[in-house]
Amino acid sequence: MSSITLIGTGNMARTIGTLAVAGGNTVEVMGRNRAKADALAEALGGGATTGRWGDVPAGDIVITALLYDGVVPVVAEYGDTLAGKVIVDISNPFNTTFDGLAHSEETSIAQRVAEVAPAGTSVVKAFNTIFRNVLEKGRPDVFMAGDNAQAKAAVAKFVESLGLRPLDVGGLTMAHWLEGMGLVTVGLAGNGVGHWDFALGADEFTA
Ligand SMILES: NC(=O)c1ccc[n+]([C@@H]2O[C@H](COP(=O)([O-])OP(=O)(O)OC[C@H]3O[C@@H](n4cnc5c(N)ncnc54)[C@H](OP(=O)(O)O)[C@@H]3O)[C@@H](O)[C@H]2O)c1
Repeated sequence: MSSITLIGTGNMARTIGTLAVAGGNTVEVMGRNRAKADALAEALGGGATTGRWGDVPAGDIVITALLYDGVVPVVAEYGDTLAGKVIVDISNPFNTTFDGLAHSEETSIAQRVAEVAPAGTSVVKAFNTIFRNVLEKGRPDVFMAGDNAQAKAAVAKFVESLGLRPLDVGGLTMAHWLEGMGLVTVGLAGNGVGHWDFALGADEFTA
């Protein structure tokens, strides 16, 4: 099983943390508000612990469960404490009208994280295409992008421990398109599908 650190104590941290504990993984929670981190770790159970903000995360996989504009600054603040870790960016940098990405460029939060992360750190984009409510009750495909095959294999193993199927979409530049996929999902929720209880996945028609 994997050891993970969740940086962030909000909805996605709770949902991924719950699945992680159920999957037998070791979970640490870090939040800028220590009381919230303690409360989440206690709620998660399964021996989940809390770490002090800015300390070296205990987990080999560090999931930044933060609002998109906090991710790069927090990774920069953690600095060398993240050396050798696999950082998983789950953020969706939507603009205020939900019809574009906030950075307005062909980049992604994950690529920007890679720019500020210490040497020897790998970044993987994952989970951003799945609504929290679906993650809580469904078995959606987990699309992921990253440049380091070993890091992606580690994240894939973690995803499988949650009972979900990891699907590699390619290198880290594909993180931009995963962010676009997040946007498409929101567009479908508000239009063609008309509700939030669905996820995009890959159907295979090989017969
Ligand atoms: N919710 C979903 O369905 C969903 C689905 C896919 C992806 N995502 C992505 O997952 C990420 C987290 O979403 P969420 O729903 O869990 O949000 P949330 O419930 O609002 O939680 C956000 C967390 O980020 C922390 N935070 C925000 N800015 C920060 C900063 N500058 N420095 C340190 N901590 C900061 C908050 O800390 P405080 O409590 O101290 O404010 C809180 O713990 C977002 O990027 C979102 O796009 C969400």
